[in-house]
Amino acid sequence: MAQIILVTSFKGGVGKTTISANLSYCLAQKTNKVIVCDCDLESRCLDMMFKIKNRRFSTSAT
Ligand SMILES: Nc1ncnc2c1ncn2[C@@H]1O[C@H](COP(=O)(O)OP(=O)(O)OP(=O)(O)O)[C@@H](O)[C@H]1O
Ligand SMILES: [Mg+2]
Repeated sequence: MAQIILVTSFKGGVGKTTISANLSYCLAQKTNKVIVCDCDLESRCLDMMFKIKNRRFSTSAT
């Protein structure tokens, strides 16, 4: 069964992105079924950490 881990904090700069990157990397060593999603639309850093070049994304609000 799928499990969801949410890394969040009301405070900035406390290590959310670092924890998310390391946690997803470690979990991926155990299983190849890991999806990590950076929901920080102001400054997405996970794609930079994983050296993902295509940084296009779209959002919509209704
Ligand atoms: N366990 C740790 N020990 C020391 N420094 C750390 C640790 N975890 C993260 N840092 C450092 O703290 C800084 C902020 O980390 P990070 O970007 O992961 O925080 P964040 O909560 O995602 O920040 P933001 O709210 O701006 O997105 C970075 O420079 C990172 O290298
Ligand atoms: Mg962050």
